[in-house]
Amino acid sequence: MHLTLRQIEVFNAVVKHLNYTRAAEELHLSQPAVSMQIRQLEDNIGLSLFEQLGKQMFMTDAGREMYAYGRDIVDLLDEVDKVFQSIKGLGQGELSISVATTASHFATRLLAAFSKLHEGITISLDVTNRETLRRQLDNNERDLVIMGQPPEGLEVEADAFMENPLVMIAPAGHLLVGRKKIPLEHFSKESFVVRETGSGTRSAIKRFFDQHGVYFNTGIEMTSNEAIKQAVEAGLGLGIVSIHTLELELETKRLMILDVEDFPIQRYWYILQRKGKRLSPVAKAFKEFVLNEASKFIRLPS
Ligand code: PGA
Repeated sequence: MHLTLRQIEVFNAVVKHLNYTRAAEELHLSQPAVSMQIRQLEDNIGLSLFEQLGKQMFMTDAGREMYAYGRDIVDLLDEVDKVFQSIKGLGQGELSISVATTASHFATRLLAAFSKLHEGITISLDVTNRETLRRQLDNNERDLVIMGQPPEGLEVEADAFMENPLVMIAPAGHLLVGRKKIPLEHFSKESFVVRETGSGTRSAIKRFFDQHGVYFNTGIEMTSNEAIKQAVEAGLGLGIVSIHTLELELETKRLMILDVEDFPIQRYWYILQRKGKRLSPVAKAFKEFVLNEASKFIRLPS
């Protein structure tokens, strides 16, 4: 059997998308080049790795075995790279980090401060929602992840480094602004502008309302906190967002925090990686930096 690393790389991308065209896009290859690599891999092994049923593509048993080994091979190569990086020291290191959409409001500040301390390092930042972060952790795609509650059912090494209170917001002239301790039940009749399914913020809010036995009326859905704030300001509904997203709007008094019973919903930010993952010196240094220094660079609006 004669396998090449390129074939394994292409195979892993096809498994990820179960689609030749999307795998080709990710790898910057043409679609025929991708299917040729897979055909050669299948010829080498003497078994089919995928089957096409109607429009959908599935892995065969042999494909699943190949994927398990393919992932191990890529992880091992990654580890070898980390070992060499650690011999070279921190100087030329690379840091790949993914953060929850909401964490992007402060992550860039942390990265800027860190890269000033370590000139010469290269940083790649992916901003995405909780569901994608979980998949990335599962596939060991990034050095470190910053998110709310660590994902369940996955072994990770997670450290909390900062509070993440979720507050209820309304436009400046709203009737409820200034009222004290508004009972949560009041809001079963209000409509909320909410984040998309898959967002950590959204599931935390839903959990909170469920625990209090109050109906959570989801109105318009949006994938960005910025859009939610603008929608609330325009009167499309109330919002519940992390206080980290609100610095400017509170300063300029364009949005107000409502005083609601049992609020804020208290959450924490975590920095984490898969359990047992060997961190590069840069990733290790960044994790320590976040755990020890984050509070100096991130102000929570009062
Ligand atoms: P979100 O995640 O931006 O996807 O809502 C925040 C979180 O993980 O708490």
